[in-house]
This record gives sequence, C-alpha cells and structure tokens, in this order.
Amino acid sequence: MVGQSLRFAEWGAEIDARVEALLGQMTLEEKVGQMVQIHLGTLGRVEGEERIRRGQVGSVLSLYGAAEINRLQRIAVEESRLGVPLLIGNDVIHGYRTIFPIPLAESCTWDPGLVEEAARIAAEEASADGTDWTFAPMVDICHDPRWGRIAEGAGEDPFLGAAMARARVRGFQAGDLSSRRKLAACPKHYVAYGAAEAGKDYNTVDISERTLRDVYLPPFKAAFDEGAGTVMSAFNEIGGVPASANPLTLGTILRQEWGFKGVVLSDWNAIGELIAHGFAADLKEAARRSVLAGVDMDMVADAYHDHLAELVREGNVPLAIVDEAVRRVLRLKMMLGLFEQPYTDESLAEKVILKAEYREKALDLARRSMVLLKNDGLLPLGRDVKEIALIGPLADDHHEILGCWHRIGSDQDTESVLDGLRAVLPPATKVTHVRGCDLEGGEEPDLAGVARAAQDADVAIVVVGEGEAMSGEAHSRAYLGLPGQQQALLEAVHATGTPVAVVLMSGRPLAIPRLVEQVPAVLQAWHGGIRAGRAVADLLVGAANPSGKLTATWPRTEGQIPVYYAHKNTGRPVGGDSIPQFHKPNWSLHIDEVNAPLFPFGYGLSYTTFEYRDLEVETPEVDRDSTLVVGATVANTGDRAGDEVVQLYVRDLVGSVTRPVKELKSFRRISLDPGEKARVRFEVLVEQLAFHGLGTLPGQRMEYVVEPGEFKVWIGPNSAEGLEGEFRVLG
Ligand code: NOJ
Repeated sequence: MVGQSLRFAEWGAEIDARVEALLGQMTLEEKVGQMVQIHLGTLGRVEGEERIRRGQVGSVLSLYGAAEINRLQRIAVEESRLGVPLLIGNDVIHGYRTIFPIPLAESCTWDPGLVEEAARIAAEEASADGTDWTFAPMVDICHDPRWGRIAEGAGEDPFLGAAMARARVRGFQAGDLSSRRKLAACPKHYVAYGAAEAGKDYNTVDISERTLRDVYLPPFKAAFDEGAGTVMSAFNEIGGVPASANPLTLGTILRQEWGFKGVVLSDWNAIGELIAHGFAADLKEAARRSVLAGVDMDMVADAYHDHLAELVREGNVPLAIVDEAVRRVLRLKMMLGLFEQPYTDESLAEKVILKAEYREKALDLARRSMVLLKNDGLLPLGRDVKEIALIGPLADDHHEILGCWHRIGSDQDTESVLDGLRAVLPPATKVTHVRGCDLEGGEEPDLAGVARAAQDADVAIVVVGEGEAMSGEAHSRAYLGLPGQQQALLEAVHATGTPVAVVLMSGRPLAIPRLVEQVPAVLQAWHGGIRAGRAVADLLVGAANPSGKLTATWPRTEGQIPVYYAHKNTGRPVGGDSIPQFHKPNWSLHIDEVNAPLFPFGYGLSYTTFEYRDLEVETPEVDRDSTLVVGATVANTGDRAGDEVVQLYVRDLVGSVTRPVKELKSFRRISLDPGEKARVRFEVLVEQLAFHGLGTLPGQRMEYVVEPGEFKVWIGPNSAEGLEGEFRVLG
C-alpha cells in the first residue's frame, strides 16, 4: 500500500486473515498488552523495556528520534514472544521540527490546501524520525478564549472546523512519505472538551445532546470520513458521564451510528481519572467502565495492564470485547506497514528535516495566518521609513513564537521580528530595539527607555502578547488583557506621540478594546512558528498583503464569554451595537457592555479594499435534495493585489427547534489584482443545512433533517457584514 494515502475504512480480507492468525496465538496477557500505551519517563525505562519484552505493551508515546525508537522496536520485534511491533505515538501538532503557526493561526488562512501541505510536511519529518502516529488533529470547537487549548484547534465553527479536520487528516495520512511507512492521525479530544465551564481546562461540560451533535461532533465525523482510523477520548465529563467511559458518545454514536472501526485511545491517564471524577471507586472499576464503553487503548493509567485480564477471567468483561479491541490495534499496525518495516532508516531524518522548501512553506503559511485587525493608514510602512523603534518583550523573541506543543521544535530554527525586519529593510534604515519589559510582569518595566527610543523614531513597532506557555493544555486564563506590564509599556510609547503599530502574539483571542482604540494599527501574528519574524516583517513593510481572517470571535471583555457568532436569537434580542441600558435592562444584554464583540468571526483587513455587490440567489426555491446557488461580485477597489476570503452564511428563520442567527456554509479564498473583480458563485448542497430537529414522529426527540421554510443568506467579508438575500426550502 506504499504510495496510497491511508484510509482506515478500507482494508482487504488479507489483513483480516493476518489479524485473526495472530490473535489466535495470543495469550490473554498479550492481548491486553496491545491495549496498553506506556510512557517510559513515567513508568521507568527498565520496567518499560521489561514489559515490552514480555509482550505487554502495544504502544509507546512521547519518544523522539529514530535510533531510540529502533532500539525499543528491536526489543518488541526480536525479543518478545510474538514479535508484534510497537506503535510510536507523538504530539505532532503544528509541525515536527519545521514548526508552523499554531493550529488556530493556521485556520485563519481559511486555506485547507495549505493546511494540508503543512500537515504533510509534519508527517514527512515525524515519520522519517520514527513516529507512526500523531495525536492530531485537535478538532475541538471552542466558544471560550479563556480556554488555553483554543490555540490547538480551528476555532469556533463546526463547518470550518470540519474543513480543517479533513485537510489535516489528508496531510498527515498522505502516501509516498520518504520513510515508505505511513503516519496515522488521531482526531481529539472526543468529545466536547472545548466546552469546559468557565474555559478552565479539564472542567465539567454540560451541553445538550443536540448541541453535541450539531456543534461538537461534525469535525470528528469529517475526520473519520477522510480516513482517520484512531481517536482520542477526552478528559472531561459530559452531563455527568466522563468522555473516556461514555456509552453514548463512544458506543451509540461512534461505533453504532458512524460504524467507526478504528482505535479509541484514552487521553493521558483519563481512565485513572475516572476515580477523581467520582465515576469509579478504584482503578479496576475504571478499567471495566472504560473498556465496556469502548476505549481500546489505555494511555499510561495502567488500568488495563493491572486489571483487564482479571476482569475477563472473572467474567466481568467479555473476552469478545478485548478481542475486538486487539483486532483494531493489530489492523492499524498492519495498515501502517509496521510488520513489513518495523525499523526506521536512521540516516533519513537528517535528509528530510527542515528542508529549505519546508521553511518556505512555513513562511507562506505564517504570512497568510496573520490577521490585520486595525489599520488607519499607518501600514504598510514602506521600505523608505528611516528610523524604527522596535519595542517589546516579543520583538526579538526566538522561543515564544514556536507556540504551545512545539516539542522538538528549536529556538535555533526561528527568526525573530528583529531578524525579519533586518532582512527586509534596506541597511540604511535604523532599527532601535528596546525590550522594555518581560512578559509576566516580574521585571520593572523600562518606561523611560522605550519612550526615548520611540521619541526619536518615525514609527514605533510594539511587539507584545502572550508567551507560549500562556496557552495550550492546562494554561487557561481568567483575564484576557496583555499580561504583566505590557499595557503600561504601550502607554509609555503611545504618550510620545510617535505613531504606533502593535504586533500581537498570542495563542488565543485577547480582550483588548483599549489597546485597539489607542493605536492606529494592530497586526495579530499569533505564535507563528519558525518563520514568524520574517512573516511579520514582510507584512509590516508591505512585501506581503495581510489576508488572514479570524476563526474565533474576539470579546471586548471576559464578561461576554462564551462568545461566538452562531449564537441563538433569544426571545429578547438586541442588535450587537445597541448601547447598554442601565435603566431599561429587559433585553438580552449586559447593562454595562454592548453585545457586539471586539472583532467578529471571519474578520480581517487587507492593505487593499474589497467591495461586494450584486448578490443573486439563483435558486430562490430549492428542494431538499438539490443545490442552493448564490453568487456575488467581489471587486478589488484598492491599489494593491490582495486575497479575500469570501464567506457564505445562512439563517434558518423558523425551525422545530431554535436555530443560530447565522451559520457558515461555504467560503472561498480568491486573489484579485487592483481593479479586478470576480463573480463568486457558491453551490451549497441543501442537505448541508440539516440539523438535529425535533422530528415529526410522536415522541421523537431528535431527527437530522433539513426543514422546509424560509432562509436568509449572506455573502460577505465576515460574519457581521455582507449582502443579504433569501431563499425557501420546499417541503
Ligand atoms: C494530554 C493531552 O490532552 C493530549 O492532547 C495529548 O495528546 C496527550 N496528553 C499526550 O501527550
């Protein structure tokens, strides 16, 4: 199967026969072994290797480097009784060594093709270095930027999330890798992990089954449809039932409704944590509840290693369940080509890793992921600027830009903004760099120093934001402003009167209305990976034109959270910009803040301008099995070439259950020269308007349907603006 991309739904009778033959030779302990994933650092190297030798380990995680992986693999293949190779799983989240922008940033390209290429490069490098399995893509939908893990996903929208999930699975599971093996993707965290209360990591989730199905499940389904053959069950509970022992999500939905035949891996010790959840009295009960619910492999909890064989012998877990789990694991190993080629060529990584073309792709992606949030004409700077004050803790940073989960990514590979500016500006341009303060507020800020530097300059570029460890797992925040003394630093620069362009780096949307009001230009650069500095420089000087658009709403204040464009109308709706009414509060608003966010989903500026005109609904009446066709003309009315992400939204006006005020149903990224226009014609299958309605049968609670009736449709530059039309779905 070398050459073909991996599709787990498809395998032949030959694999089944090999699986059965091997299964038939296994003892119960060896079977359980295939359901165990260990971490050598946690378990201890000696114990880990001994278990591998005894055939009691199916997979090892967080192991980097072909030589070490080969060494362990030799123990499994040459010293264990049946010689079943290990599966090596790693977190290859946004690049292996060529670190790309964090996934949230990647999604702001709205360019699944580019995101697929990045995933493919990650697969090339990781596979060349011995990895078989990546714990990615992370496809959790999130409406709460306090949650640190919003950095790892594609933002708030299920439609865009599904498109990015498919792209990443295609990229990771590509055929023709130099290693001549394959990499398996593992969508995570199944499911609804991004709905943690208060955005606090690992916190309780309590959402309706309808919201689960309409909002949180679609990206997973899309990943499986694209051929993903594994999935990671999450830490969180959903309405009282932990996701790693949840019969509804793992059994009814995943296995029965979707017919998923791949491997379910628990998240790190998620089976053990059933005890802390109060869902199991001890590890044995935790093992029983998880395996019965459908978790095939236990990541590091040792619940299966310690108790599963005993549970089977006692009759508390049917052997058939264990056999089926082992079949899935063995099939995965066979489909990956591990039995034919268990070892990795140790000279390969150095030839594959950090190729010049990969670095180029990282630059391209970084440029397209950055979002111009505000520009009163200060940007682009133009190469004739004489003197720049480059200020802030992230201005010459080589580390934070790697973002969360960069693993073997190295500071040595990165370019800072200072490096980038030096590379793109003529040597005569004076760049004065003053760091000014640290990120967290431990140091006294050098307000006088930054003011001095700014005073003398034509323009001040202030690079501020979050460190890489302020987002990602277990790094949720309660306050979403600039951490530490950075706002004070900015005020000091602003007070000089020198025009200020702010470059923000962060792993999440920030709540920074004051900053945005103060300065004439703000570029959101995220944690943009190894080429982030050069990408920022290219955008600041206009060598590239910003084209990223937000995939998660930016709140004005933490009090607006959860914040997302596809909210419900409520019975007492008010427009987003209505002034808060301290004395007339009987509407759905806060009495002290407007409903509109700071920046809506889909928003992002360019150095050129685009005009939308002539919306036409070509199909004002559509059958449920037909296609909706809507078009609009988009014109580049500025004086630069630019890319625009044209977005199509709908609203289902009346339903058997209430519907969101807007839902993204299509998008297209187009490039236009100055003065050029394009007719953008969207064809949307009407079946894509389906949702989980009440159903028509007596007593029915949920039916996945497109309901007939009136709809609105918009084509526009973001979720808050656009040309409006209407159509009707016929009964
Ligand atoms: C815990 C995280 O939740 C998950 O995303 C990751 O893949 C595993 N640890 C393994 O590192």
